[in-house]
Amino acid sequence: MNLPSARPLSRRNSVALLLAIACVAVLQAAEAPPSAAPTYTGRPRNFDESKVGPYTLPDPLVLDDGRPVHDAETWLKQRRPELIRHYENEIFGRVPARAPKVSWAVAETEAGALGGKARRTRAVGTFGEGDRAVKVTMNLYVPAEAPGPVPVILHLSFFSDSAQLPTDAENEAANRPSWARPTELGPAPEMLARGYGYALLRYTDIQPDVFTSNAAGVQALAYAPGQIKPAPDEWGAISVWGWAASRALDFLTTAPGVDASRVALVGFSRLGKTALWAGAHEPRFALVFAACAGEMGSALSRRDFGEMVDDIQARFPWWFAGNLKKYVGHWNDLPVDAHELIALNAPHPVFLTAGTKDLGADPRGMFLAAVAAGPVYRLLGKKDLGVTQMPPVETPVITGSLGFYFHAGPHVVSPEDWKVFLAFADLHLKPAR
Ligand code: GCU
Repeated sequence: MNLPSARPLSRRNSVALLLAIACVAVLQAAEAPPSAAPTYTGRPRNFDESKVGPYTLPDPLVLDDGRPVHDAETWLKQRRPELIRHYENEIFGRVPARAPKVSWAVAETEAGALGGKARRTRAVGTFGEGDRAVKVTMNLYVPAEAPGPVPVILHLSFFSDSAQLPTDAENEAANRPSWARPTELGPAPEMLARGYGYALLRYTDIQPDVFTSNAAGVQALAYAPGQIKPAPDEWGAISVWGWAASRALDFLTTAPGVDASRVALVGFSRLGKTALWAGAHEPRFALVFAACAGEMGSALSRRDFGEMVDDIQARFPWWFAGNLKKYVGHWNDLPVDAHELIALNAPHPVFLTAGTKDLGADPRGMFLAAVAAGPVYRLLGKKDLGVTQMPPVETPVITGSLGFYFHAGPHVVSPEDWKVFLAFADLHLKPAR
């Protein structure tokens, strides 16, 4: 490639360049903490606990018409459907009636996978029909020897197998931070030894994760003639990914050696948001692990700390229902908040993680959401988080149906997160070793 040869800078240009560099330096120095992420809306993100300000959370146990919810039946028959409707209409978008039919086929089996420890099944889901059908791969590992059907950890992930860990260039092209992903995958040998199966489903097989996402994937299969994007209350990408996780669960109900009544859904970050929404929608998931799920996942939206509705809507509008736009700058008007997304998973257990250096995802906001989901768990006869003060770093809180672990480090699924998650899962899914 021929590049124009570098010309020496004129004196005037050099002064302009120096001024520009100085301006950038001053602007950078003026930013709150040096780690503060850039703002995407002109509104700087707050990383100062003393500036969070007061907020009032909606009460999950008060119906929209103001009547209190005193019993499990009113929760299940009235309040829960109300909250689901709010999430469908305003936040994640509902599944359209034209959602494609899905069929699964086993494409390959391998008896001695993972050094002989597992039987691997590669299943392919066909969403829709004909040339436009979307193919989704799931790799399922079950222990080579198990006394009976095993519980499965279904991981909606950035990859569907470890062989697919991407290069930095691929991460960059897909708008993913390169450091975040390699530890995302779980410790498969450990899971198998503990008596779990492990299934991996790659999210971008289902719906692309780019600005132009609407034009392709499963969403495009569901358009009415002439439609080019989902209606404002129809599914954004998070709803599509979550719905597809339910379709993967459909396959698991037919897979030999799997106990589909004990499937834990796992997702990290944007996929942690997805896992919480999928678990809220799909009572067949027995447990949800949402790692560093942050804004519009496990962190309270009304708490003005780190990423806010404004940022996420500006940067990732395709993740959500078009209606979410209404709440930019008005997050206190949201009909729901993260504690209710967590509570919609009740009575099934939910495990959340946060990282000391993942301030953008608001660790304290995630903890407080888990605390505020407690009344719904208690109403359904389950034990809540058991603490109301943020636990010290690296101190698992896993005595109830809500679990929380605050790892030392950034926005990752750390090896310790996996260990604590497996201890939590053991208590609830009771694998036979
Ligand atoms: C961005 C986004 C977060 C999200 C994360 C991820 O950082 O702002 O809300 O959780 O991507 O999915 O990695």
